Amino acid sequence: MYKEMNLDLIDVNAEPPIEEPSRQYYFMAKCRQWVRDFEQKSGRLPKACIVNMGCQMNARDSEKLTGILEQMGYAPTEEEQADFVIYNTCTVRENANLKVYGRLGKVHHYKKENPHMRIALCGCMMQEEQVVEKLKSSYSFVDIIFGTHNVYKLAELLFLRNETGSQVVDVWKEARGIVEELPSQRKFFFKSGVNISFGCNNFCSYCIVPYVRGRERSRKPEDILEEIERLAREGVVEIMLLGQNVNSYGKDLKEPITFARLLRQVEQIPGIERIRFMTSHPKDLSEELIQAMKESSKVCRHLHLPVQSGSTAVLKAMNRRYTKEQYLALVDMLRRKIPDISLTTDIIVGFPGETEEDFQETLDVVRRARYDSAFTFLYSRRTGTPAAVMENQVPPEVMKERFDRLLEQVQRVGREMSGRFVGTVQKVLVEEVNVRDDSLVTGRLDSNLLVHFPGDASLIGKLVRVRLEESRGFYYMGSRVLGEEDKG
Ligand code: SAH
Ligand code: SF4
Ligand code: F3S
Repeated sequence: MYKEMNLDLIDVNAEPPIEEPSRQYYFMAKCRQWVRDFEQKSGRLPKACIVNMGCQMNARDSEKLTGILEQMGYAPTEEEQADFVIYNTCTVRENANLKVYGRLGKVHHYKKENPHMRIALCGCMMQEEQVVEKLKSSYSFVDIIFGTHNVYKLAELLFLRNETGSQVVDVWKEARGIVEELPSQRKFFFKSGVNISFGCNNFCSYCIVPYVRGRERSRKPEDILEEIERLAREGVVEIMLLGQNVNSYGKDLKEPITFARLLRQVEQIPGIERIRFMTSHPKDLSEELIQAMKESSKVCRHLHLPVQSGSTAVLKAMNRRYTKEQYLALVDMLRRKIPDISLTTDIIVGFPGETEEDFQETLDVVRRARYDSAFTFLYSRRTGTPAAVMENQVPPEVMKERFDRLLEQVQRVGREMSGRFVGTVQKVLVEEVNVRDDSLVTGRLDSNLLVHFPGDASLIGKLVRVRLEESRGFYYMGSRVLGEEDKG
């Protein structure tokens, strides 16, 4: 587990250590010397910007990168016109991928004005061979290219780039164990993501994630619990347990443990008041987990349960390994056991072979599962996945037309559902002073929906009770309710 490390005690003239994480601290100390030289010469600290382009997994990796940059002495900035820019890429759909090339065009321009600038690319897209080949041949101004399995090596790669003066490419096909004990810098002081597993074994036929994130690897429960205990000591009250499929957590460990058991252990940690997790694969959602959620006072009454399609035939072709009926039965069980639960989902429209009848089944599931909200995606063909070579690809105009109908349905159901808590008192974690009106603060409900209510900055990071007075579609207006525990 990460302990404060004093970089001044490291002998940077010695040979680099072989063992991790000592090796990375050595390179952080080396890079810090360079940062200090820069400061002396230019009278300011070099600025670093990380652009996160992907999901929660990527966001968590970006926090680790931020931690390393901070140790090296870089000043954080959100401006891409910086001394060091890192793009943490996503490749789950083609448009995520295309955006990267657009950004590179812009940043190349900045680099021409500031030749000391360093540009790094990392994340899922770098795990694709053809992408790296293209970058190597046509984007030589990119300084560092690394992947999802060696995020922790940033300092070493930067040092190498500065020493050799040439592009550094280090992408691993597979993970080589999990490196614990590195610094990381959280975006919010009161909430944090915590990885519980990396990678995915499910190979849904449309999805590139298993190819770019590798096989599923669970972290040991003791490492997870220790990390959360430390976070709690630092003032974190809400944690989000992260994995591509949290429901299969622990099956690959020497001493197997279920996700539900892990959840019960996390629940015991003092100071943690709210627990979220993402994502649950319906095929592995156990009754034990539903029971653990029901009995917990800390686990949010919210489940993100991606359905992807409502058609059993399409689900089969997607390799999701559940039917429409099994999914709906799961939803029924959830609503029976936890009546106030909020359900959200992911849906793909236009998977190869999807007919109008199949699509109608999806609309039917949205109606019957009554989601609070849903992320809807146009199917995107990803090279290397089985679905990419399926013959009956759906024409773009058909896809788009279905997408619009789906969105309308999702929004209608969402509006109905989100209104159901009006008049109730709910716990809200306050995140910030309202950006438009500074007499209000903005926080999140269990369901992740936003609530605005009168308050000031002293409430940020606190869980308070709020009466929801008005639903405005996808957010609420409310007012604070002072209970016994809130007085004084
Ligand atoms: N592991 C999670 C989510 C991974 S990616 C899960 O299984 O639910 C997030 C979402 O992106 C997926 O749920 C899916 O809806 C969508 N997605 C993945 N691949 C896609 C593709 N090729 N085209 C369109 N959407 C895709
Ligand atoms: Fe992709 Fe399926 Fe794994 Fe989710 S479960 S990451 S959709 S392969
Ligand atoms: Fe996430 Fe995109 Fe990678 S969704 S796991 S960042 S491909």
